[in-house]
Amino acid sequence: MSDQQGYGLLTGKKGLIFGALDERSIAWRIALACQREGAEFSLSNAPVALRFGELDELAEETGAEVFPCDVTDEDEIEELMQNVKEEHGKIDFMLHAIGMSPNVRKKKGYKELNYQWMQQTLDISSISLHKVIRYADEADILNDGASILALSYIGAQRIFSKYGDMNDAKALLESIARNYGSRLADRGIRVNTVSQAPTKTSAGSGIKGFDGMYTFADKLAPLGNPSADECADYCVTLFSDLTRKVTMQNLYHDGGFVTAGINEDMINDLAEMYADEEDEG
Ligand code: NAI
Repeated sequence: MSDQQGYGLLTGKKGLIFGALDERSIAWRIALACQREGAEFSLSNAPVALRFGELDELAEETGAEVFPCDVTDEDEIEELMQNVKEEHGKIDFMLHAIGMSPNVRKKKGYKELNYQWMQQTLDISSISLHKVIRYADEADILNDGASILALSYIGAQRIFSKYGDMNDAKALLESIARNYGSRLADRGIRVNTVSQAPTKTSAGSGIKGFDGMYTFADKLAPLGNPSADECADYCVTLFSDLTRKVTMQNLYHDGGFVTAGINEDMINDLAEMYADEEDEG
């Protein structure tokens, strides 16, 4: 959004944001958008990321407290929720923007997965959503009507060869969002996933072939790939009171990629690229 004034959509709301690593991180952009819209929040990331990252800069800019937490560790999550309780009392929104696959990082093909690494992929990228919701609920820090969001990718539904076991991780993440959403709905609490298009971040760029995936999505999506800032604007609406009956959904934020088949430019480019083969045929 070009207007830095915002709409005051989150005035008076408090939140907890996981996953801001550096200024390219989608969570970083979401934190800035939440601040613009009037929210107060705490930031959390893994201790190792806090050592190497630049989170203090964001904390200073937004007046947020930073709490370290490795989301695979239940004790750390429990402690985090107590810290958040002391800081804010109750919260109105929570963002899970966490993903990591050792298999993808180390370029292991899907047929040669290292299963220990796969367990880590699922623990960090998916089961952690269950854990943070559970411990937030048990610490009783979620306000009625709160909104919980996790970031997903279309690899949950379609096969993207270079995305490896993250395809499976995102499918599980979306399932956990649906299942928890059904169990918190009696308090008006919403749980959704936003399926974002390829975005140039630290996690994104760690995927072999990312540039190809990015360009393909950008060319196919009628509106083109959305930026991290545009994703942030969408997430703000989902944290706001304007979307109180939206829950248990996987919501595509991809410029129309999910429903696009092919377009004229791509047909022409492909025809040119494979002209020789057609001639031979
Ligand atoms: P990023 O690298 O900035 O964020 C990933 C975050 O996960 C980092 O802050 C990292 O420190 C954190 N993390 C990893 N292990 C952790 C642990 N054990 N405990 C706590 N935090 C841990 O990259 P990005 O792209 O902003 O990723 C955010 C989310 O968006 C991820 O879920 C990712 O899968 C998702 N997403 C990214 C897309 C992209 O193309 N960049 C597209 C669609 C979804």
